[in-house]
Amino acid sequence: MSRPKITIVGAGNVGATAAHWAAAHELGDILLLDIVEGVPQGKALDLYEAAPVEGFDCRVTGSNNYDDTKDSDIVVITAGIARKPGMSRDDLISTNARIVGSVTDEIVSRSPNCILIIVSNPLDVMVTKAHMQCNFPRERIVGMAGVLDSARFRAFISMELNVSVEDISATVLGGHGDSMVPLPRYSTVSGIPITALMKPERIEELVQRTRDGGAEIVNFLKTGSAFYAPGASVVQMVESILKDKKRILPCAALLQGEYGHDGIFMGVPVKLGAGGVEEVIELDLTAEEKSAFDESANHVRELIKSLS
Ligand code: NAI
Ligand code: 2OP
Repeated sequence: MSRPKITIVGAGNVGATAAHWAAAHELGDILLLDIVEGVPQGKALDLYEAAPVEGFDCRVTGSNNYDDTKDSDIVVITAGIARKPGMSRDDLISTNARIVGSVTDEIVSRSPNCILIIVSNPLDVMVTKAHMQCNFPRERIVGMAGVLDSARFRAFISMELNVSVEDISATVLGGHGDSMVPLPRYSTVSGIPITALMKPERIEELVQRTRDGGAEIVNFLKTGSAFYAPGASVVQMVESILKDKKRILPCAALLQGEYGHDGIFMGVPVKLGAGGVEEVIELDLTAEEKSAFDESANHVRELIKSLS
């Protein structure tokens, strides 16, 4: 039995970091592909040379040729440009739509049965663009953002309460942008909702820090955006699929009537297993939470209009 084949398009910060985590978790053979000659080959060889030290048995190769991606099981698309200070994710639309569109065409012509995980920003628009190109069933195309946004919320809750991150779970719905919807009622420490552990004003500050989490890193780095937590978040999704773990993770999935929306990718809890997006989980939302979710969906719809 051969190992699963994981292709990561875009060997930049997020792509290379995702390759690193995927190799460390021995999830499969990894192909890094980029438009820049030498970069995917150099990063892949460097990472593979860590295998004897770290003791992971998976091949890591780099390429500029899409023929090498043939018959991939999972393809992660991180190709595109990243934010610089003063830019929002939405400022990346036209450049990244062109890139994600052409990458998707190249990939699906060689791996028509793969599961696609889109990462490029603005995430909700890029996963829509990729879907327009490939028309995959919703089980096999999904966007990464909610795992990252929830991880940030979990990290901030952990820092605030001085408790282990392991005991914290958090839920962030909606689009990956300023209108994202962190849900304190569904965020817990060992099963205890944070609403019972923190004052409402303090929770609101952590919620806002979560919404601003990407910008906080951009403002520190100045030359690009976050990549460690994004890379780890992608790999958690890849692992859940390849090991058929059926984890419930917040991901951008195509809604088909759930949450009162149809034909739009939004961050919602999904069951990720061998079949990809095996189920979209519908949470009971209060009127206020539902209205925030709808507002986020409206923002994503507006951005999608600019694709045409
Ligand atoms: P980066 O600039 O480090 O890497 C992007 C890579 O894409 C570069 O190596 C570039 O050569 C490559 N690329 C550009 N055009 C390409 C093409 N046509 N074909 C193949 N490769 C191509 O950027 P970084 O930090 O890795 O971010 C990548 C994308 O992911 C950005 O759009 C960023 O905003 C997004 N992102 C999304 C997150 C999310 O939660 N969804 C989190 C973090 C980043
Ligand atoms: C982030 O949230 C830039 O979307 C990226 O860090």
